[in-house]
Amino acid sequence: MEAKKDIVLSGIRATGQLHLGNYYGALSKFVRMQEEGKYENFFFVADFHALTTNPDPEALHANVKSIIAEYLAAGLDPEKSTIFVQSDVPEIPEMYLLLNMHVGIGELMRTASFKDKARKMLGIGADAEQSDDNIEREIIGNNSNKRVNAGLLTYPSLMAVDILIHKAKYVPVGKDQEQHLEMTRRFARRFNAFYGVELFPEPQNFDFGGAPVKVPGLDGSGKMGKSEGNCIYLLDDEKTLSKKVMRAVTDGGPQEPNSPMTEPIKNLFTLLKLVSEPEVVKHFSDAYADCSIRYGDLKKQIAEDILKVTLPIRERILAIQNDDAYIARVLRQGAERARASASATLREMRQIMGIRPF
Ligand code: TYM
Repeated sequence: MEAKKDIVLSGIRATGQLHLGNYYGALSKFVRMQEEGKYENFFFVADFHALTTNPDPEALHANVKSIIAEYLAAGLDPEKSTIFVQSDVPEIPEMYLLLNMHVGIGELMRTASFKDKARKMLGIGADAEQSDDNIEREIIGNNSNKRVNAGLLTYPSLMAVDILIHKAKYVPVGKDQEQHLEMTRRFARRFNAFYGVELFPEPQNFDFGGAPVKVPGLDGSGKMGKSEGNCIYLLDDEKTLSKKVMRAVTDGGPQEPNSPMTEPIKNLFTLLKLVSEPEVVKHFSDAYADCSIRYGDLKKQIAEDILKVTLPIRERILAIQNDDAYIARVLRQGAERARASASATLREMRQIMGIRPF
């Protein structure tokens, strides 16, 4: 009998087109793991998670479709991976209800992503003066009509369910998702210990030996993110993409040999290392070290090398987006397989928790 393969699962929220952060932090790894042929793969679009911020029915539907097209265009193959939409698996919301009985509101309120988003919703600044206690009080005691919804609070429970319902061992994600993954491990351990079972494995990030990447934005600070307005999208055409890169923030240039790099320049080199050949990286690193670097040349190189990756994907995305029948077929098959795996775990979980037939 063939040995059971380790399970890989990951997803992306349906909140817009995919950018280079999503590609290098997640999607390119999905494809590589699939191609290794060693794993049983589940890749999905997290549409329930998208509802935790700015729900918009038309945009949601369009975003699910575009991400599925982007998955397929980047190389995910429905014959090798189960590709599905979160809301096509009704076992997920049921398990979310069950798991939530073992999750504390305190630990949810202390989650970094929750505090960030709640702050934004309530218009509270992220300055260092605001201690975490103050922020929790602000969220609970806020009397304005701005609301932090309960779905946002329980976001990590839902994400844990996505992972645990398939008993995934590896979850390829970017650095920003590590706290959620840590919480998933904690919930898994807690459930197993409470009921004295070995139901859930503790999932780990996966990065082919390196550290999880954080793709920076082009605005000189922070990560590339949909809500930061600093993204390069897989769907950007040549002109748009080049313009964005050429406008990236830089500094006045190194004044002395071997100067330390400022944040915006470090970010450009991070991008260069992701997209360019090692000798190209070396060329520009040497030029920076001896102060002969011209940032215009550096940016041109980065734009060119990004386009080599994104343009072929872009063409395929546009073609697949026009093929509704193909997308529907992929998702029907994906939902069927995802439900088979999810319902087996849910059956065990119900039994363990005492929800049993008479
Ligand atoms: P989301 O939709 O914000 O991001 C999707 C993936 O892209 C990665 N990512 C980045 N990686 C590197 N640099 C960046 N600048 C960057 N921006 C985004 C994220 O780390 C992520 O891997 N909660 C998840 C979606 C989710 C999920 C799951 C993931 C729901 N359930 C179960 C894995 C397993 C999220 O919001 O990702």
